[in-house]
Amino acid sequence: MDIFLVREIVTIAIMCSSITSNVIKRHYDNIKIEKIECRFNSPILNLRNFNNFVKNSILTIYLDKLKLIAGENIKTKLTSLDIGCGKGGDLFKWRKNGITHLVCADISKKSLDECVRRYNKMTINDNKCDEQFDVEFIRLDCSRV
Ligand SMILES: C[S@@+](CC[C@H](N)C(=O)[O-])C[C@H]1O[C@@H](n2cnc3c(N)ncnc32)[C@H](O)[C@@H]1O
Repeated sequence: MDIFLVREIVTIAIMCSSITSNVIKRHYDNIKIEKIECRFNSPILNLRNFNNFVKNSILTIYLDKLKLIAGENIKTKLTSLDIGCGKGGDLFKWRKNGITHLVCADISKKSLDECVRRYNKMTINDNKCDEQFDVEFIRLDCSRV
């Protein structure tokens, strides 16, 4: 294939990816943040619960395997990257499964701000909890890393 044609295709692919990212970012930045109580009125509540159950099961299965392989030392080292962390809907799952350091990355500033707020609320309420963990928040387009 002609080298110029390849370059054209790559340029178009990069432009499309950038347009898509902007559409996604705008979409999530414009979503109204619902109060936690409103979740119970959601028409897809059962689907959400099932989705959370599956995610939690996957985390538990694989993190348990990881802890087994790594032995005792894992307690101080369990770090994970949450790509597209959103508003932090999985923060409790990470904490429950013994993560000690979490990196939360998302393209949407509004979602990430809410994630920070929920994490702060969670740590204030959890002073006496053994399962505390540190979180780093990064706003970025993960498709471009
Ligand atoms: C359906 S939400 C899921 C949020 C969270 N993981 C949860 O389960 O509660 C998808 C998230 O992915 C983020 N996202 C989509 N494309 C992204 C990209 N290219 N880079 C970073 N974040 C992205 C969106 O901003 C949104 O917050």
